[in-house]
Amino acid sequence: MGTLNLTPVSTADYRREAEKKLPRFLFDYLDGGSYLERTLTANCVDFEALQLKQRVLFDVSKVSPASSLFGYDLAIPAAMAPIGMAGMLAQRAELQAKRAADTVGIPFTLSTVSICSLEEVAKVSEKKFWFQLYMLKDRGPVIEMLQRAKAVGVDTLIFTVDLAVLGARYRDIRNGLSGGTRYWGKLRSSMLSYMAHPSWAWQVGIKGKPHTFGNLEAYVPNASTPTDFQAWIAQQVDPSVTWKDIEWLRKQWDGNLIIKGILSPEDAVAAVNNGADGISVSNHGGRQLDGVSSAITMLPRVLDVVGNRCEVLVDSGVRSGADVLKARALGAKAVLIGRPWAYAVAARGETGIVNLLNTFKNEMQVAMALTGVTHVDEIDERIFDRG
Ligand code: FNR
Repeated sequence: MGTLNLTPVSTADYRREAEKKLPRFLFDYLDGGSYLERTLTANCVDFEALQLKQRVLFDVSKVSPASSLFGYDLAIPAAMAPIGMAGMLAQRAELQAKRAADTVGIPFTLSTVSICSLEEVAKVSEKKFWFQLYMLKDRGPVIEMLQRAKAVGVDTLIFTVDLAVLGARYRDIRNGLSGGTRYWGKLRSSMLSYMAHPSWAWQVGIKGKPHTFGNLEAYVPNASTPTDFQAWIAQQVDPSVTWKDIEWLRKQWDGNLIIKGILSPEDAVAAVNNGADGISVSNHGGRQLDGVSSAITMLPRVLDVVGNRCEVLVDSGVRSGADVLKARALGAKAVLIGRPWAYAVAARGETGIVNLLNTFKNEMQVAMALTGVTHVDEIDERIFDRG
């Protein structure tokens, strides 16, 4: 796709358009992984390596990719993954994403480190959304955020556990977004950056304010740029968290609890034993420990040990409707869609997300029909060509 005039269709199209629209440091923040980005690459390559098996002459006049999870009706077995600082990628992006999720019919997950707050997102519609939480050293804000989430109707919490320490993202360090330099401060005076990306500068840089971390405003007084909040988060990341803290969390939260960032059978068992209602098999989109296996590779091994003792989701590498089908065939109840929605919102806002998710839905429907299944409960390993 050479120009912005062509209509984006696939995740790759939206990615390319996002790359043109965003200042380089923001595109790299979104697109990049940790260290040599081997796991980031493996996440997608391993999905692609799964070959589908074409089947014909089944009655596929009615094919539905719809399913349900925790009482939610899902248009496809998916939810939108938490993406921190999404509101820097598009104007109040979390609100646009929530509206898109409502339109398509999958849950939206708000990150702890979102630009828009729980309360702002709750005003979008009556429809429920999910909230993602990190454990902070200071448990006061943790308890308060859980209460705030509950107060705005959140009943499903994604608790992310694979960030005990921060993996280094070389692109962010090169761009001065992390590693001590202060890009956001520089950005204010960086006319070149504004001029090179005028629509971002106007829509997000000016009209998208305030650029604060909405959920954390009360806890980081006097912070006004993402850098101020990032600095607070960096010293709040609690490397001493153990399963004891999950036990504690379980007592604080009586809604659905999904532990995100499980990548081994041992930890999956521990999550279930500590009261998780669900887990997401994930390596944080290749943004933490580089060199670990792809999430889709680990999924069957996790399922072997937890079976149906909890809902098993998977994320990291989902790029298409066929990927959703593949994850389901390997036993996942649903997937979390991460970068694809973020590329889409950066490229074309709410409409971009709606169009991309509908593309996922249509693709899943076609892939189901041509692998000979009509309902998600029928999807299993028979849809693969295993030679
Ligand atoms: C993330 N992810 C993430 N996860 C989380 O629990 N809280 C967060 O705030 C964020 N923030 C975030 C920002 C960006 C820019 C990315 C790309 C990812 C991880 C996310 O929820 C999900 O696990 C990955 O995006 C999955 O990988 P793919 O499919 O996007 O490659």
